[in-house]
Amino acid sequence: MVKYWGKDEVDWKGKRVELDFPHVIHSQQFSLDDLEKLFKLTAILKQQIGKHTKKDWLSGHIVLNLIYEPSTRTTTSFSVAGLRLGADIITPADPVKLSSVIKGETLEDSIRIYADKVDVIVLRHKDDDAAIRASRPRFCQGVPVISAGAGKGQHPTQSLLDYFTIRERFGRIEGLIVAICGDLKHGRTSRSLAYLLSKYEGVEIYFVAPEVAQMSTDVLDYLTRHNVKWHQCLTLDEVISFVDVCYMTRFQTEREDPEEKEIMAHASMVNVIDEQMVESMKDDAIIMHPLPRIHEVKWGVDKNKRAVYFQQALNGDYIRMALLLCILNSDKAEELLANAV
Ligand code: NCD
Repeated sequence: MVKYWGKDEVDWKGKRVELDFPHVIHSQQFSLDDLEKLFKLTAILKQQIGKHTKKDWLSGHIVLNLIYEPSTRTTTSFSVAGLRLGADIITPADPVKLSSVIKGETLEDSIRIYADKVDVIVLRHKDDDAAIRASRPRFCQGVPVISAGAGKGQHPTQSLLDYFTIRERFGRIEGLIVAICGDLKHGRTSRSLAYLLSKYEGVEIYFVAPEVAQMSTDVLDYLTRHNVKWHQCLTLDEVISFVDVCYMTRFQTEREDPEEKEIMAHASMVNVIDEQMVESMKDDAIIMHPLPRIHEVKWGVDKNKRAVYFQQALNGDYIRMALLLCILNSDKAEELLANAV
């Protein structure tokens, strides 16, 4: 089946657990070679597939969108990706309330049931370890699980589309200076992006947030171990003039403990990009955001040429097409790559 990413190990409950990929669980699992292929394949698909295009490359396959947390972009993006390549999609409405979860069924048991029916499971869930648990062979039965966001842990497909967007714009990742700003304590997209960037030589990361919302030490330690230059600072003013990428994120109010609500509300007001601030950026710098935004990027910034967050969201459709194609029809993926000029 999949030829693109192999076995990997993760820390889970203090143990090393072997993941038997084709699952998509975390950003670290992708090698530079995997990323190169995904980039090329995504670019090919972006050229060949637009609105009104429908291929039959995934016909006969059923994609299950198992979405236990709110989602606008990711769910539709997986649906669009699957539909444009000819797959059928099931997206159960509100599975937290309307599936047997409400009766007390575990995620593991639900996965075991779905695994007999579908060809790939796209999973968004509130638990940081949800995708790892779902991908245990006795539950998923070898059916690939793609994490569409797991608690405060990771959002690997978001980081892949972020990677694609940066690479599309700069032609490289190596040597870029990237600010990652917002609620780094609770946000999963910033974590996944940091892990992915760490694979490239000479990348320098600035984590920009008030102390209460700063990046956790597991990511910082990982970056140190992988010789990535990283810095922490409180305000965007300190870095905005020299970064290549300014990656904004919203404050994750739904993940805050009740006692931190007030302090986080203040922290969320500290770093806001407006029309004036954006003009102090380098001419070719870009502003990214996984979206949804709340108030951290003003609407007035949208018309600035540096704002790429809507293109970034659209790129999500293509990266997910590439992933589904690699997972469900790797022969076609190989053929497209071989025929590309
Ligand atoms: C992100 C998420 O779900 O983590 N959204 C997305 O998938 N683009 C970011 C967020 O909710 O802040």
